[in-house]
Amino acid sequence: MKSHIFLTFIAAALLLASPAGAQERKPDAPGAKWEGLADTPQMGWSSWNKFQTNINETLIKDIADRMVSLGLVDAGYVYLNLDDGWHGERDERGFIHEDPEKFPSGMKALADYLHSKGIKLGIYSDAGTNTCACYAGSLGHEYQDAFMYAYWGVDYLKYDWCYTNDINPKGAYALMRNALRAAGRPIFFSMCEWGSSKPWEWAAEVGHSWRTTGDIGVGFLPIPQRYDENGNKMWTPLGVMPIVDLNEPLRKYAGPGHWNDPDMLEVGNGKLTLAENRAHFALWCMMASPLLLGNDVVNMKKEHLEILENKRLIAVDQDALGKQAKRIRKSRIFDVLVRPLADGAIALCVLNKSRRSQKFEFDLTALKNEEYVKDYTKTSYVMENLWDGRKVADVNSVSATIASHDAIVWKLK
Ligand code: GLA
Repeated sequence: MKSHIFLTFIAAALLLASPAGAQERKPDAPGAKWEGLADTPQMGWSSWNKFQTNINETLIKDIADRMVSLGLVDAGYVYLNLDDGWHGERDERGFIHEDPEKFPSGMKALADYLHSKGIKLGIYSDAGTNTCACYAGSLGHEYQDAFMYAYWGVDYLKYDWCYTNDINPKGAYALMRNALRAAGRPIFFSMCEWGSSKPWEWAAEVGHSWRTTGDIGVGFLPIPQRYDENGNKMWTPLGVMPIVDLNEPLRKYAGPGHWNDPDMLEVGNGKLTLAENRAHFALWCMMASPLLLGNDVVNMKKEHLEILENKRLIAVDQDALGKQAKRIRKSRIFDVLVRPLADGAIALCVLNKSRRSQKFEFDLTALKNEEYVKDYTKTSYVMENLWDGRKVADVNSVSATIASHDAIVWKLK
């Protein structure tokens, strides 16, 4: 009975959201997206990197409980995002439902559970006929899906780009933005079309973040091209450094309300060394990236938790100025990135890309010549190592030995 009333309500809402009504509301006018949801980059956990479509209610509740007990929610990781594979079938009226075997208590009950723990629920769909893992996409059901998400109590939507054929991305993403607005519940809109149509040039009024690259894999340097048994090229994910190379130059497009998204974190997913995990996290914080954990939180190692809960680095990521770092030096050995911060300080990150420990030396007064941070420079600084919080006063140069594939971030004030 209850669901009958709900469907009648949805049908009425769909009528209100008809194209004629939509024209009066100028759906493409700036401001139609939900404001105030992305003053700083989103933080949370997503199921994809570790579990792919092997998700279910028990796993997700365990992850949620663990996010609370490990202090991750308090550290700012407030979204719990179900990626691909939560879907069941559309009913005869076209409404999407959760997979009844994976989520027997239903999506609304899961949202209530998460909300009771101070966690927000994220969900995933696709602008095409199907999701990338071939579940039902939202094409032709955008308003219905948005209303269903709002009814369930969803707080975040990642919207993917598989099976879109010749659909226009600007139209497709604006359509879902309008649907989310019409559904009446503030929902963070995370665009995921891998940078193909340069969303950074047009999507500030559409989404709260947009992916800038293809999918990340567990690798630091370029991941070797994969081939099938017949020698044909197969889809291959990107390592951390190739993603940095693609995302860093897009810094001018990011800012409060609209962020470049270089994909979810692989910290703690094996294969990466501890130094590489640190560097990956440090670079994402420098680039004002969404911090979406992609590991098995229930069984995570203490050393990975320590990286992910580093308050000083999280504060750089979440800095109110919202300026993505600029890479000011790039050599075979070191990359140097700088980022101005809201309190007048500079975050300085040095990455050792080589295969052995290297000594890094740098005259901090040279920062005066860097346009990006020029207004933030001093003749001497209090220099704080953000990994351990140790401070040294009155310095004007850096000299440090950095391990292979490790990154140090200092705050210069
Ligand atoms: C695409 C996205 C990934 C993930 C998968 C799910 O590849 O880029 O982040 O959501 O789809 O199938």
